[in-house]
Order: sequence, then C-alpha cells, then structure tokens
Amino acid sequence: MQTKVSTIQSLFAAYQQGEDLAAQGLVKVSGWVRTNRDNGSIGFIALNDGTCFKNMQVVYHEDLLGHEEISHLLTGAAIYVEGKIVLTPEMKQPFELQASKIEILGQVEPDYPLQKKRHSFEYLREIAYLRPRTNTFSALYRVRSVLALAIHEFFQGKGFVYVHTPILTGNDAEGAGQVFTVCTKDDEGKLSETAFYGQKTSLTVSGQLHVEPFALAFRDVYTFGPTFRAEKSNTPRHASEFWMIEPEIAFADLEDDMDLMEETIKYVIRFVLDRCPDEMAFFDQMIAPGLLQKLNDVLAAPFRRMEYTEAIGLLQEAVKNGHKFDYNKIEWGMDLQSEHERFLTEQIVKGPMFLINYPKDIKAFYMRENDDGKTVAACDCLVPGEGEIIGGSQREERYEILKAKMEKQGNIEELDWYLNLRKWGGCIHSGFGIGFDRLLSYITGVANIRDTEPYPRTSGGLRF
Ligand code: 4AD
Ligand code: MG
Repeated sequence: MQTKVSTIQSLFAAYQQGEDLAAQGLVKVSGWVRTNRDNGSIGFIALNDGTCFKNMQVVYHEDLLGHEEISHLLTGAAIYVEGKIVLTPEMKQPFELQASKIEILGQVEPDYPLQKKRHSFEYLREIAYLRPRTNTFSALYRVRSVLALAIHEFFQGKGFVYVHTPILTGNDAEGAGQVFTVCTKDDEGKLSETAFYGQKTSLTVSGQLHVEPFALAFRDVYTFGPTFRAEKSNTPRHASEFWMIEPEIAFADLEDDMDLMEETIKYVIRFVLDRCPDEMAFFDQMIAPGLLQKLNDVLAAPFRRMEYTEAIGLLQEAVKNGHKFDYNKIEWGMDLQSEHERFLTEQIVKGPMFLINYPKDIKAFYMRENDDGKTVAACDCLVPGEGEIIGGSQREERYEILKAKMEKQGNIEELDWYLNLRKWGGCIHSGFGIGFDRLLSYITGVANIRDTEPYPRTSGGLRF
C-alpha cells in the first residue's frame, strides 16, 4: 500500500524549487489529522506528517470511498492519502492534495487529551508524551534537534575534537555538593553506595574535569552530554537533568574564551534562523513577540564585557535610586542572584553580556586566581530573560596554587590525576559550559525549562 510515500516536507521543498507539482501524477502521503471539517459535499483535512512544521491541506468529496467515516475523523487520527496535487495560488496554502483514496491507519478514541483548541503549557506538561504533536512543541523539539546539530557543526568545523566524558564518576567537579549518589545492591541485597565500584559513585555535574586532559592532548575539544544536579531550586531555569556543551581550549586565556563563547552563540542563532524559518516565525508570532528582532540585534552587536566589581557598583546604585530586589543587600563578595543578573543584562546592558573576574570565594576551585589575590578569571554570559546561560573560566595552571586550593577543598585524593596535568606539560587553558536547555529557551522564547526539555526532571517531578 505505502510504497513511495512522499513526505510533506519534500512536497513543499519541491514547490519552492519551482517544480510543477500538478504534473506529478499520483502522490501518496501518510500523517496525522490536525483538523477536519466537512460540509457534506466537500471536506478539508489539515494533515501533518511530522517532517515539517507546515500542514498540507487534503480535500475530499462525498463520492470518496468511506466518506462517512472519513468525514468524522478526529484530530490525531493517523491516515494514508492518495491523490493529485492541485495548485491553489489564490489561497493561503500554495497547493492542496485532492484525495482519491483515504485509508484510516489509526483511529483516535474520543478521550484523546489534545483538541483543536489551544492548551496551556501547564496542561501539556501533564501529557508530555503527547505534546510533540502540537504546533508549539513540534516547532520547539525540531529547533532543539537543529540546535544540537548547530553545536556540532560549529565546533567540528573549527577542528574541535568531540569527547564523550563519563556520566558515572567519583568526583563532584563543581564542588558544590549537588551530586546524585548512585547506589546498587550488595551481596545481601542491601542498598550500598560502594558495593559496585568499591568507592562512592555519582552522576556527573559537569564533564569539564574529564575533558581538560583531552584539551592538553588535542588542543581544542568539547563535550556535549547530559549532566545532573540535585539542586532543589524550583525555578523556570533549573532542572536536575540538563544538557551541557563544554568546550575546552589550550593555549588560550579568558579573552580567547569569551571570544569563543560569543562566536558560538552567534553561529548557532544564525544556523537556527536559517534552518527553521517556519518554526522561528511561529515563536515570534505566538510565543514571544519581537523574538526575531531580538535575535537579529544580538547578531549585530558585540557582547558587552563588565567586571564583577563594576556590576556590584551598578546594583548598589540601583538600590540607592529606589530599585527593590528580593535580595537587596548588595555587597562585594556576594554571589549574584538571578534577579541581579537579569537586572544587569535587561536594564543596564539591554542585551547579552559577559560578567568577569568574580570573587574567588564564590567560584569553583579550578579557576585561575588573578594577580589581585581576591578574584578569579571567571566569566558568566548573561542574557535577557534568562540570566546566566554560560559559565566559564581560565583554569588554574600553576601546580602549587591549585594544589593548595584542592587541599582546602578536600578533593586532592580523588582528583590527583587532575592536579598531575599541571606538572606534566601544563599550559594556560580555558573553557566554558553552555546550558543547552537554557540556550534553547533563549532562542525560542519558550521560557520554562519544563517545556524546552522533552521529559523534564526537576526536584519533585519525574513523570514519564
Ligand atoms: O556555571 P556552571 O555550573 O559551570 C560548569 O559546570 C563548568 N564546569 C562549565 C565549564 O567551564 N566547563 O554550569 C554551566 C551552565 C550554566 O551557565 C547554566 O546555563 C547551565 O550550565 N546550568 C543549568 N541548566 C539547567 N538547570 C540547572 N540546574 C543548571 N545548572 C547549570
Ligand atoms: Mg555558573
């Protein structure tokens, strides 16, 4: 039955290339009914086969075999259609399929949770396994896929080597105590943290420590995979499982690091705008008005670079002028809250920015200490609507200084191999981590990480 089925994507592409679709003879497609209306003599089905954002209109008449059942097809039904393409230049859609045969492949029961009307994001989260069938989520998850390709094309195009860092690990790379511990059963059937590996094991919070040795062999590398944090922040931007892209570059300092961050962000935005015009136009119209303008502005201007110390001054000034933060006691040395980050990027810079040289006490042990003895060569990239989407730094390459820090941190035993890198051919090197799900939020305007992740895992929430 279904030999040589065309995809709707290929039909639109052929149309755009000026092919005469009307001369194609019999066209066969299969897909799902998005809407179906029938006025007795003529009926219209908006058919989506998942290969592109657009639906194709299928037209059928009352003399079609099985007309009665077809005219009652509900949203969501799977069908197979044969017919001829007719050009409809006067209509919204450039062509339609005049059906000579429609076969029902999969009926939908009336209790189907998706209806023609618009559903709220909250409602759709409860049926996450069905939401890829809606306009918004079909657009979102296609962009997610294209964005992942953009990342690989960008780094591979520059000669970076892709490294698969482990998910199971014995260390807490960030030292923030947010690891998920992995347990297995011991010989007595009791849950144990050490029975399997003979040591404590956790899910990785970052691939950085495992990718750094590769940078000291290949020069430019990246890892891109899932990371896990048992962080109980109930916000639209925190998930306990999220994907991170972590490039690491040798013979490179913080300035080089920031140049690469900016180039990466601009490249992937351009890539998505280019590959997903229908999806991005939809987000601009339905989800985040002004999105396309915003992204084009990002492409046009350099990202501003600001010292942490300057940022503290600006926040203090804002408070003096009457601005109220939830956390209003602004002082040097504090860790910035997301409200502060957003104030800086949304109200002051009004675009993406880099915040650099943070106090050493609030940052990870591996960051390079600056000559002032108080700050480290760290850099966060902040963007409007999200706050931090990238965290990076120049790494401490000096053996004695790193050793002292690791002694203080108490991780020198499990990370002796990491420290060894500093005495065997060490060099200055830098890297960063982009939160992939937050980046997707930023690019699509879909604000909540519970939506940008196909099956979100957040504290208290693990369904599906
Ligand atoms: O700033 P973070 O903690 O940096 C690191 O993990 C470094 N090891 C990266 C590196 O230098 N190689 O995390 C990096 C990014 C954040 O900027 C944020 O976008 C994202 O990861 N992120 C989260 N995304 C979603 N949910 C969470 N709970 C996240 N925690 C961090
Ligand atoms: Mg960070």
